Amino acid sequence: MRSILIANPKGGSGKSTLSTHLAAWFAWQEEAVMLGDIDSQQSSRHWLSLRPSSSPQIRGWDLDEEQKARPPKGTGIAVLDSPAGLHGKRLKQALMRVDHVVVPVLPSAFDMWASATFFEELAEVKAIRREEISVAVIGMRVNPRTQSATQLTEFLKQFDLPLLTCIRDTQLYVQSIQRGLTLFDLPVSRTKQDRLQWQPLLDWLVSNKR
Ligand SMILES: Nc1ncnc2c1ncn2[C@@H]1O[C@H](COP(=O)(O)OP(=O)(O)O)[C@@H](O)[C@H]1O
Ligand SMILES: [Mg+2]
Repeated sequence: MRSILIANPKGGSGKSTLSTHLAAWFAWQEEAVMLGDIDSQQSSRHWLSLRPSSSPQIRGWDLDEEQKARPPKGTGIAVLDSPAGLHGKRLKQALMRVDHVVVPVLPSAFDMWASATFFEELAEVKAIRREEISVAVIGMRVNPRTQSATQLTEFLKQFDLPLLTCIRDTQLYVQSIQRGLTLFDLPVSRTKQDRLQWQPLLDWLVSNKR
Protein backbone atom coordinates (compact mmCIF):
# COMPACT_ATOMS: atom_id res chain seq x y z
CA MET A 1 0.00 0.00 0.00
CA ARG A 2 1.25 3.46 -0.80
CA SER A 3 -0.03 6.80 0.40
CA ILE A 4 0.25 10.18 -1.25
CA LEU A 5 -0.23 13.46 0.61
CA ILE A 6 -1.30 16.49 -1.42
CA ALA A 7 -0.28 19.65 0.37
CA ASN A 8 0.42 23.35 -0.09
CA PRO A 9 0.10 26.15 2.48
CA LYS A 10 -2.11 28.27 0.22
CA GLY A 11 -5.79 27.79 -0.42
CA GLY A 12 -6.86 27.55 -4.04
CA SER A 13 -3.57 26.07 -5.24
CA GLY A 14 -5.28 23.00 -6.71
CA LYS A 15 -4.87 20.46 -3.89
CA SER A 16 -8.38 19.04 -4.17
CA THR A 17 -8.23 19.04 -7.97
CA LEU A 18 -4.95 17.15 -7.81
CA SER A 19 -6.17 14.72 -5.12
CA THR A 20 -9.32 13.79 -6.97
CA HIS A 21 -7.46 13.40 -10.27
CA LEU A 22 -4.82 11.11 -8.82
CA ALA A 23 -7.48 9.02 -7.06
CA ALA A 24 -9.43 8.68 -10.33
CA TRP A 25 -6.34 7.83 -12.39
CA PHE A 26 -5.32 5.05 -10.02
CA ALA A 27 -8.92 3.79 -9.96
CA TRP A 28 -8.76 3.52 -13.76
CA GLN A 29 -5.59 1.43 -13.32
CA GLU A 30 -7.74 -0.96 -11.28
CA GLU A 31 -6.03 -0.13 -8.02
CA ALA A 32 -8.06 -0.22 -4.80
CA VAL A 33 -8.09 3.53 -4.09
CA MET A 34 -9.00 5.33 -0.89
CA LEU A 35 -9.43 9.10 -0.85
CA GLY A 36 -9.06 10.83 2.51
CA ASP A 37 -9.68 14.47 3.28
CA ILE A 38 -8.32 16.19 6.38
CA ASP A 39 -9.53 19.60 5.19
CA SER A 40 -12.58 20.81 7.12
CA GLN A 41 -13.93 22.13 3.79
CA GLN A 42 -14.22 18.48 2.72
CA SER A 43 -13.98 19.30 -1.00
CA SER A 44 -12.69 15.86 -1.97
CA ARG A 45 -15.25 14.20 0.24
CA HIS A 46 -18.02 16.16 -1.39
CA TRP A 47 -16.70 15.36 -4.86
CA LEU A 48 -16.68 11.68 -3.97
CA SER A 49 -20.32 11.85 -2.93
CA LEU A 50 -21.17 13.12 -6.44
CA ARG A 51 -19.15 10.47 -8.26
CA PRO A 52 -21.39 8.39 -10.55
CA SER A 53 -21.54 4.70 -9.62
CA SER A 54 -20.64 3.84 -13.23
CA SER A 55 -17.17 5.43 -12.80
CA PRO A 56 -14.23 3.42 -11.42
CA GLN A 57 -14.80 3.16 -7.71
CA ILE A 58 -12.93 5.24 -5.13
CA ARG A 59 -13.62 4.66 -1.46
CA GLY A 60 -13.66 7.35 1.21
CA TRP A 61 -10.97 7.07 3.84
CA ASP A 62 -12.37 8.09 7.20
CA LEU A 63 -9.83 9.70 9.42
CA ASP A 64 -10.30 10.19 13.10
CA GLU A 65 -9.68 13.55 14.79
CA GLU A 66 -6.06 12.84 15.46
CA GLN A 67 -5.69 11.51 11.92
CA LYS A 68 -4.50 8.22 13.30
CA ALA A 69 -6.67 5.92 11.22
CA ARG A 70 -4.81 3.87 8.66
CA PRO A 71 -6.42 2.88 5.38
CA PRO A 72 -8.07 -0.54 5.61
CA LYS A 73 -6.25 -3.69 4.50
CA GLY A 74 -6.44 -4.33 0.79
CA THR A 75 -5.95 -0.65 -0.11
CA GLY A 76 -3.55 -0.24 -3.03
CA ILE A 77 -3.26 3.54 -3.05
CA ALA A 78 -4.40 6.09 -0.49
CA VAL A 79 -4.61 9.73 -1.53
CA LEU A 80 -4.84 12.31 1.24
CA ASP A 81 -6.17 15.81 0.50
CA SER A 82 -5.24 18.46 3.06
CA PRO A 83 -6.17 21.99 4.14
CA ALA A 84 -4.33 25.22 3.45
CA GLY A 85 -1.83 26.13 6.14
CA LEU A 86 -0.95 22.56 7.10
CA HIS A 87 2.17 22.84 9.24
CA GLY A 88 3.71 21.90 12.58
CA LYS A 89 2.16 19.00 14.45
CA ARG A 90 -0.62 18.35 11.95
CA LEU A 91 1.83 18.25 9.06
CA LYS A 92 4.06 15.83 10.98
CA GLN A 93 1.05 13.61 11.77
CA ALA A 94 0.03 13.54 8.12
CA LEU A 95 3.60 12.80 7.00
CA MET A 96 3.79 9.80 9.33
CA ARG A 97 1.39 8.00 7.09
CA VAL A 98 2.63 8.75 3.60
CA ASP A 99 5.31 7.72 1.10
CA HIS A 100 4.99 10.66 -1.27
CA VAL A 101 4.13 14.34 -1.01
CA VAL A 102 2.92 16.20 -4.09
CA VAL A 103 2.79 19.99 -3.89
CA PRO A 104 0.78 21.94 -6.49
CA VAL A 105 2.04 25.51 -6.86
CA LEU A 106 0.37 28.36 -8.73
CA PRO A 107 2.70 30.56 -10.77
CA SER A 108 2.33 33.70 -8.68
CA ALA A 109 4.80 35.43 -6.41
CA PHE A 110 2.45 35.16 -3.42
CA ASP A 111 2.09 31.43 -3.87
CA MET A 112 5.80 30.90 -4.38
CA TRP A 113 6.68 32.90 -1.25
CA ALA A 114 4.14 30.94 0.81
CA SER A 115 5.49 27.67 -0.56
CA ALA A 116 9.08 28.60 0.32
CA THR A 117 8.37 28.40 4.06
CA PHE A 118 6.59 25.10 3.49
CA PHE A 119 9.50 23.62 1.50
CA GLU A 120 11.89 24.72 4.26
CA GLU A 121 9.73 22.94 6.82
CA LEU A 122 9.61 19.80 4.67
CA ALA A 123 13.40 19.85 4.28
CA GLU A 124 13.72 19.57 8.08
CA VAL A 125 11.65 16.40 8.24
CA LYS A 126 13.86 13.39 8.96
CA ALA A 127 11.94 10.95 6.76
CA ILE A 128 12.27 13.36 3.84
CA ARG A 129 16.00 13.90 4.45
CA ARG A 130 16.41 10.13 4.51
CA GLU A 131 14.41 9.88 1.29
CA GLU A 132 11.84 7.61 2.92
CA ILE A 133 9.28 10.14 1.72
CA SER A 134 9.70 11.62 -1.74
CA VAL A 135 8.56 15.12 -2.64
CA ALA A 136 7.44 16.40 -6.03
CA VAL A 137 6.16 19.75 -7.20
CA ILE A 138 3.80 20.49 -10.06
CA GLY A 139 2.83 23.82 -11.56
CA MET A 140 -0.95 24.24 -11.39
CA ARG A 141 -2.78 26.39 -13.93
CA VAL A 142 0.52 26.96 -15.72
CA ASN A 143 1.04 26.64 -19.41
CA PRO A 144 4.28 24.81 -20.13
CA ARG A 145 6.96 26.72 -22.04
CA THR A 146 5.75 30.05 -20.69
CA GLN A 147 7.68 32.54 -18.59
CA SER A 148 5.67 31.42 -15.55
CA ALA A 149 6.86 27.85 -15.96
CA THR A 150 10.48 29.03 -16.24
CA GLN A 151 10.12 31.21 -13.13
CA LEU A 152 8.68 28.31 -11.17
CA THR A 153 11.54 26.03 -12.24
CA GLU A 154 14.08 28.69 -11.22
CA PHE A 155 12.36 29.23 -7.87
CA LEU A 156 12.43 25.51 -7.05
CA LYS A 157 16.17 25.15 -7.69
CA GLN A 158 16.99 26.61 -4.27
CA PHE A 159 15.13 23.72 -2.64
CA ASP A 160 16.63 21.12 -4.96
CA LEU A 161 13.13 20.20 -6.09
CA PRO A 162 12.28 19.47 -9.71
CA LEU A 163 9.14 20.80 -11.33
CA LEU A 164 7.69 17.53 -12.57
CA THR A 165 5.08 18.98 -14.86
CA CYS A 166 2.73 21.88 -15.51
CA ILE A 167 -1.03 21.47 -15.66
CA ARG A 168 -2.69 24.10 -17.81
CA ASP A 169 -5.63 26.27 -16.83
CA THR A 170 -8.78 24.91 -18.44
CA GLN A 171 -12.48 24.83 -17.61
CA LEU A 172 -12.39 21.08 -18.26
CA TYR A 173 -11.19 20.71 -14.66
CA VAL A 174 -13.89 22.92 -13.21
CA GLN A 175 -16.65 21.27 -15.22
CA SER A 176 -15.65 17.69 -14.56
CA ILE A 177 -15.11 18.21 -10.81
CA GLN A 178 -18.63 19.55 -10.33
CA ARG A 179 -20.00 16.27 -11.74
CA GLY A 180 -17.94 14.01 -9.47
CA LEU A 181 -15.60 13.31 -12.39
CA THR A 182 -12.09 14.14 -13.50
CA LEU A 183 -10.40 14.58 -16.84
CA PHE A 184 -9.50 10.89 -16.66
CA ASP A 185 -13.21 10.02 -16.72
CA LEU A 186 -13.79 12.01 -19.93
CA PRO A 187 -13.22 10.59 -23.41
CA VAL A 188 -9.54 10.38 -24.38
CA SER A 189 -10.36 12.23 -27.61
CA ARG A 190 -11.31 15.34 -25.59
CA THR A 191 -8.45 15.17 -23.12
CA LYS A 192 -5.44 13.82 -25.01
CA GLN A 193 -3.21 16.88 -24.60
CA ASP A 194 -4.16 17.31 -20.94
CA ARG A 195 -3.48 13.66 -20.11
CA LEU A 196 0.03 14.13 -21.54
CA GLN A 197 0.62 16.91 -19.01
CA TRP A 198 -0.17 14.52 -16.15
CA GLN A 199 2.10 11.76 -17.43
CA PRO A 200 5.40 12.86 -15.80
CA LEU A 201 3.71 12.95 -12.39
CA LEU A 202 2.00 9.59 -12.93
CA ASP A 203 5.30 8.05 -14.11
CA TRP A 204 7.05 9.46 -11.04
CA LEU A 205 4.43 8.00 -8.69
CA VAL A 206 4.50 4.61 -10.41
CA SER A 207 8.30 4.36 -10.64
CA ASN A 208 8.78 5.53 -7.06
CA LYS A 209 7.04 2.36 -5.86
CA ARG A 210 8.24 1.34 -2.42
N1 LIG B 1 -5.85 23.41 -13.93
C1 LIG B 1 -6.92 24.12 -13.58
N2 LIG B 1 -7.59 24.84 -14.51
C2 LIG B 1 -8.67 25.58 -14.18
N3 LIG B 1 -9.16 25.67 -12.94
C3 LIG B 1 -8.52 24.98 -11.96
C4 LIG B 1 -7.39 24.18 -12.23
N4 LIG B 1 -6.98 23.62 -11.05
C5 LIG B 1 -7.82 24.06 -10.11
N5 LIG B 1 -8.75 24.87 -10.65
C6 LIG B 1 -9.82 25.59 -9.93
O1 LIG B 1 -9.21 26.40 -8.96
C7 LIG B 1 -9.97 26.43 -7.77
C8 LIG B 1 -9.12 25.97 -6.59
O2 LIG B 1 -8.75 24.61 -6.79
P1 LIG B 1 -8.82 23.57 -5.60
O3 LIG B 1 -8.43 22.25 -6.18
O4 LIG B 1 -10.14 23.64 -4.89
O5 LIG B 1 -7.65 24.14 -4.64
P2 LIG B 1 -7.35 23.86 -3.09
O6 LIG B 1 -7.89 22.50 -2.77
O7 LIG B 1 -5.87 23.94 -3.00
O8 LIG B 1 -8.02 24.95 -2.32
C9 LIG B 1 -11.18 25.54 -8.01
O9 LIG B 1 -12.26 26.35 -8.40
C10 LIG B 1 -10.74 24.66 -9.17
O10 LIG B 1 -11.81 24.22 -9.95
MG1 LIG C 1 -9.15 21.82 -1.23
